[in-house]
Amino acid sequence: MRPTISQFPATRLRRTRQSAAIRALTRQNDLSVDDFIWPVFVRSGEGIEEPIPSMPGVFRRSVDKVVDAAREAADLGIPAICIFPYTEIEERTEECAGAWDPENHANRAIRAIKAAVPEIAIMTDVALDTYNINGHDGFVKNGEIVNDRTVEALVKMTLAQAEAGADIIGPSDMMDGRIAAMRAALEEAGHQNVMILSYSAKYASAFYGPFRDAVGASGALVGDKKTYQMDPANSDEALRLIERDLSEGADMVMVKPGMPYLDICRRVKDTFGAPTYAYQVSGEYSMIKAAAQNGWIDEEHVMMESLMAFKRAGCNGILTYFAPEAARLLASKR
Ligand code: PBG
Repeated sequence: MRPTISQFPATRLRRTRQSAAIRALTRQNDLSVDDFIWPVFVRSGEGIEEPIPSMPGVFRRSVDKVVDAAREAADLGIPAICIFPYTEIEERTEECAGAWDPENHANRAIRAIKAAVPEIAIMTDVALDTYNINGHDGFVKNGEIVNDRTVEALVKMTLAQAEAGADIIGPSDMMDGRIAAMRAALEEAGHQNVMILSYSAKYASAFYGPFRDAVGASGALVGDKKTYQMDPANSDEALRLIERDLSEGADMVMVKPGMPYLDICRRVKDTFGAPTYAYQVSGEYSMIKAAAQNGWIDEEHVMMESLMAFKRAGCNGILTYFAPEAARLLASKR
């Protein structure tokens, strides 16, 4: 029940907006560097920082450069980095064996970051798309994305990442039963402390376009992902997915994309109270960058407003390509 408020002029709601000091004192939500997980792209080679045209300011980096980026992030106070591999077309097959290769770009990056920047938490991506010739997150048989055989592969991928030193496993595949299978395998292998941040409510979204360029999957994708990723029209289903993943052993849950799905973030947080994250995805990032480059919006202010929106919606943190830029800005204002 809402308490009643007195009538004007006893109540003048503008009183608490009158100065920066009073606004600071009455501010409800807070954005800090502690809220960020920074997604980075890793590729083959050495000394490489290759710009991604559809994501201004974002690069595909060779392992040595990813380590430099992790160092920079840790120095800015960013608590976690999330590794996404970019694979060349010849590294992709129907069998996706690269996904659980201990020597794949992602696993090499995990080991190198652990050795050089032990204080930053490392999150991974578990899905077959970047190793799959047809760009899907699971194995494809007769045009169908098969569930159970994919889960077996995801478990192998998870174990290889945990072996490499990952702290947080990030299944982004949307197969059924994967969290229970991954959790059981981690326990059995002695990785009790390895966490799972499940992409529980991941929508079949057109906002992933620039990311698919970044990982080299845009041209590759045959068809769409609608038989496993969620229908943007659904809200209740997100709660069922989150409940299922928490009951299977997820430590943290994610809603993705972010800004168009803030209603889902709020429902998830209010219903379960679990650590809840949103992914401000590539398309959201690139729209802000593009509009700013055209001089149509103020980049810094829109960036910070977009990030604060996630906190207001109840999120504990945000996966965002803006992480270093926002961290620098927050540091300069302290
Ligand atoms: C793939 C994956 C995707 C993203 C993260 N992991 C793309 C997809 O599902 O097609 C999107 C991230 C972004 O757009 O920034 N499993």
